[in-house]
This record gives sequence, C-alpha cells and structure tokens, in this order.
Amino acid sequence: MDFLEQIDRDKLPQHVAIIMDGNGRWAKKQGLLRAAGHKRGTAGVKQAVEGCAELGIPFLTLYAFSTENWNRPKKEVDTLMNLLVSSLKKEILTLQDNDVSLHTIGNINTLPSKAQKELSEVIEKTKSNKRLRVTLALSYGGREEILKSLQEISVKVKNNIISPAEIDESLINNHLYTHDMPDVDLLIRTSGEQRVSNFLLWQIAYAEFYFTPVLWPDFKKEHLHDAIYNYQKRERRFGKTSEQIK
Ligand code: FPP
Repeated sequence: MDFLEQIDRDKLPQHVAIIMDGNGRWAKKQGLLRAAGHKRGTAGVKQAVEGCAELGIPFLTLYAFSTENWNRPKKEVDTLMNLLVSSLKKEILTLQDNDVSLHTIGNINTLPSKAQKELSEVIEKTKSNKRLRVTLALSYGGREEILKSLQEISVKVKNNIISPAEIDESLINNHLYTHDMPDVDLLIRTSGEQRVSNFLLWQIAYAEFYFTPVLWPDFKKEHLHDAIYNYQKRERRFGKTSEQIK
C-alpha cells in the first residue's frame, strides 16, 4: 500500500535523515557478494532523492559512510568509494532534472582524491538548484562533529573573541557542519536495526524515529511515503503537554 495520497502536504518534515542499512544482508540473501548489495543500494538512494524532491521536502541527509566504516576490509572501502564516484557521474542529470543541490558533511579531505574531485564538481554544478538539498554524510561521525565544534569555540575563547558566557546552543549549532540546515524532523533507519550509530547526534534531539525491516537496496518511494505518513500521525510535543500544543 502506498500512502502518498494520505500525506498532508502542509505538514511535511523539513529535514529527513536516513541511515541506509542492510546492503550486506540483501546481498547475502541473494547469494551475492557484499559489493553487489552496495551497488543495488544506489537504487535506494535514487528512490529517496526523487521521493523527497517530488514531495517538496527541502532537506535530505544520507549516511553514506561513517568514520567507523574505514575499519571495513580495504576491498569493501574501495568498492564504496568507487561506487560513490560512478554514481555521481551517472546521476548528475537526475540531480539537475529534480532541481537538487548536492552537499557533504564529514571529513571530506580523508576521502580518495578521485572522490573529492567528483564531489566538488557535482557540488559546483548543482549549487543553484533549489528544490531539495541532498547532503551526503561521508567519513562522518556525530561525536567528532561536536568535538570539532568545541575545539573551534575554545580557540575563540582563548583569543578573547567570545566569552564562555556567550557559549549557547545556537553558538554550538553554528559550528556544526549542518549550521545552515534545520534540525532533523524524521530519522529513518532500514534493515530492522534500531540504533543511531553516531549519526547527527546534536541535530536529532527532537527527531521522530522510524525503523523499517526493509533492506536498503529494496527501499522504494512507497517506504518513504509510509515513514512520512507515520510521522504525521505522531504528536510532536517538544517537552510540552498535549494540551499546550493544541
Ligand atoms: C549499510 O549496509 C550501507 C553502507 C555502509 C553504505 C551505504 C552506501 C550505499 C547506499 C551505496 C552507495 C552510496 C552512494 C551515496 C552512492 P551494510 O553494508 O552495513 O549492510 P549490512 O549491515 O547488512 O552488512
């Protein structure tokens, strides 16, 4: 069942974040190598991007490669990096056609130079697209992002640019990779796992979580619609009582 028709276009989440999980298990189930699972995972990325663009959701952030993923076998890391490069080459038109701009968060300078080059080309080519901003989290870790922010702030305090009393939530926010993005409204994780895995720790403070057993290569627009329909049925109270928000 596709919930597209039931979605209230006036109450869309502004920022959807996805932990794309289950490529390896999908491959195993088909009797294929893990690399084949990652390759099919790119179909899920396309579905999520087109699905958000069609609905008019302005921000989509995808967890494509965590800082911890560097610990996978070298061959698998190489596969993921090569797939990133080939997908960017192949899908640039999909981004243009859907008015999507590409961005990244994470330690981009630790990626292979080929990946860095391709990313900066696509970022440059899509920078004036307005409908949807897709952010790929690459070599990204949430704790590291907060740490980096604290280090930058400490230097400013040391140099008397700001005083400790001026450190507040918005100052910390302004030093995160996501400083010009709204907080996450809806966090989706596929493959039945129910963990956050160091993703956008600061930004998910009030996010609604949606877990689905669907493996990432099988992710379709209808699963996105299901997640959004589910999100819209929930009552977001931000710490208030039910009566206060009526
Ligand atoms: C998790 O599956 C997925 C990843 C580690 C990477 C996500 C990558 C893609 C969707 C493909 C390429 C992406 C782009 C942006 C071109 P897993 O390997 O952890 O699965 P498992 O838990 O079943 O082993």
